[in-house]
Amino acid sequence: MTSKPNRKDQHVHLSEMNYSETAQQGLEEIRFVHHSLPEIGLKDVSLATAFAGLQFDYPFFINAMTGGSKKTAVINGNLALIAKETGLAMATGSVSSALTDADVTDSFRTVRENNPEGIIFANLGAHHTLDNAKRAVDLLKADGLQIHLNAAQELIMPEGDRDFSAWLTNIEDIVQHIDVPVIIKEVGFGMSQKTIQQLVDSGVKTIDISGRGGTNFAVIENQRRPAEEYSYLYDFGQSTAESLLESQLYQGAVEIIASGGIKTPVEIVKALALGAKAAGISGEILHLQLTQGNDRTIAAIERWKTELATLMTLLGKKSVPDLATTDLVISPNLAHWCEARGIH
Ligand code: FNR
Repeated sequence: MTSKPNRKDQHVHLSEMNYSETAQQGLEEIRFVHHSLPEIGLKDVSLATAFAGLQFDYPFFINAMTGGSKKTAVINGNLALIAKETGLAMATGSVSSALTDADVTDSFRTVRENNPEGIIFANLGAHHTLDNAKRAVDLLKADGLQIHLNAAQELIMPEGDRDFSAWLTNIEDIVQHIDVPVIIKEVGFGMSQKTIQQLVDSGVKTIDISGRGGTNFAVIENQRRPAEEYSYLYDFGQSTAESLLESQLYQGAVEIIASGGIKTPVEIVKALALGAKAAGISGEILHLQLTQGNDRTIAAIERWKTELATLMTLLGKKSVPDLATTDLVISPNLAHWCEARGIH
C-alpha cells in the first residue's frame, strides 16, 4: 500500500517544479525616473524598516512557506538558519496541523531552536479561533502572527474549506485580543481596496497584499488534482503591482507589506517606492535553498543587501520611508487600472 502524499511536501515540490527565474508581478511596468545628482553617499543609506511594532535591519524577509512534515521540517530548519545568519525576519508556513498533531508540533519547534533571537512570525488560516492563534504564537515563541486569506486556494483544494463566512469575525476577534502584532496576508492572489478597507475597519494594522505573478497556488493546487479542472483560475486576482496601487488610498491608515513574485533588489525597491514597508520573499528563497544550499543562499541575500543600498544611493534616498517619495512612471496598462479604480 502506498501512503497518501503529504500536502506540505507536494506544495514545496510543485512550487519548485513551476519555478521560473522571472515573475509576472507587474513591477516591470513601473520605472524609476533617474536624477543625475543623488546628493547623498552610499554610507548615508540605512536599510532599516519598521512594521507591526517591530524594528527590522532589512526591508525584506523570508515569507510564509512550510513545515508540517518530516521533509518540510528540515527545510524550515534550514530557512531558520539562513534567517539567523542574514538577520532577516522569517515567517513559517501554516502551523495549523501542529495544533493537533504532536509530531508536527516538534517539527516547528526547530525553527525557534535554530534562531533563538530572530524575529519569527507564526502563520494560520483565517478559519482559526483566537484560542488557536494564541497556541500558534506560543508554539514558536513568535514575535507576531500572520493570518492568511486563501479563498481561491481552498476552493481548488479537494480537502479545502468551502465556507468563508466566519473569516472577518475571526480576524476581528484575534486582532483585538491577542498580545502580539498581527499581519493579514494573501497567498498570491492580491488584494483590493474593498478588502483593505474591510480589514482596516476590523482593526487590522498591517497587511501583506501578496499579489499574483510569483508562486501560483491556483496552478499548484490544480496540479495536486488527478485531472485539470481549475486552469480557468490560473490568472485570477490582482498582480503585486496592481495590489500595491490598490493600497495607495489606505497607506495612511494601515501598513502595507508587498509580496508575490518578488525576486530581486530592483523589485524590492519598486515595492518600497510604492509605499510598502517591506517585501516578503518565498518562492525565490525556497528555490535558492533547495538548489544551492544554505551557504550560497546566504551569499545571495548578502549581495541583495549591497544592491539595495546601491539602488537607494542612485535614487538619492537615505531610508526606506524616503523611498516612498521616489519619482516613478507607470505603464499605460497600470495607468488604466488606476483610472478604472479611482486611484490618483
Ligand atoms: C506558500 N505560501 C504560504 N502562505 C501562507 O500564508 N501560509 C502558508 O502555509 C503558505 N505555504 C506556502 C508554501 C510554499 C511552498 C510557498 C512557495 C508559498 C504563500 C507565500 O507566503 C506567498 O504569499 C506566495 O508564495 C507569493 O510569494 P512568492 O512565492 O511569489 O515570493
